[in-house]
Amino acid sequence: MSERIIKVSPSLLACDFSRLGEEIRAIAEAGADMIHCDIMDGHFVPNITFGPPVLAKLRSICHVPLDVHLMIERPEDYVESFVDAGADIITIQIEATRHPHRLIRRIQDMGCKAGIVLNPGTPEISITYLAKMVDMVLVMSVNPGFGGQSFIPEMLTKIRNIRDMIGDIDLEVDGGIDENVAPAVVDAGANVLVAGSYIFNHHSYHEAVQLLKAAGNP
Ligand code: DX5
Ligand code: ZN
Repeated sequence: MSERIIKVSPSLLACDFSRLGEEIRAIAEAGADMIHCDIMDGHFVPNITFGPPVLAKLRSICHVPLDVHLMIERPEDYVESFVDAGADIITIQIEATRHPHRLIRRIQDMGCKAGIVLNPGTPEISITYLAKMVDMVLVMSVNPGFGGQSFIPEMLTKIRNIRDMIGDIDLEVDGGIDENVAPAVVDAGANVLVAGSYIFNHHSYHEAVQLLKAAGNP
């Protein structure tokens, strides 16, 4: 297993939203490389979270890059608002738009990084012609909508296949990641780990982030 530098992107979905500002500062101090913001609209996924105004407030108190995961219908109607709010990277679900190639270019032309996301049931082949143009590929290892679900082991094969397709581009994995699952996910080719409940339920955010990063140096 070769050594890989791992970036950790804690998912705010599992934080205490009544203390959002404090949670953001704590997670930044704990060594988060990015902050994963799960945007849900109650249509693409059966849950609703927050939108651009909240993101803009987060931006104003935090310098860690904001990793904005759009789980919404018609993402083309909203990407500009999220760029204006301060997103550093926007990932769009391949299943949510008819013109992913055009949308990725639009996001990048606005000066923002762009990534593509695949749900567990979506095959690798769906991103063949996007693989070299995106700044990141995100493999969902649970069905999106809720935190605290179990990692789907079959996704390890998909992670391996996508790593072969994309070369050195960032490969993020999201859903059910903890210190036990992380080594296999990294071994399969991931270099960016999203974790919500594992980090925010840990007694030490710092320890949790470092344990995930250690998955790159077994
Ligand atoms: C699921 C979200 C994930 C989720 C991860 O729809 O995209 O980011 O919050 O949470 P855990 O780490 O608890 O599976
Ligand atoms: Zn997510």
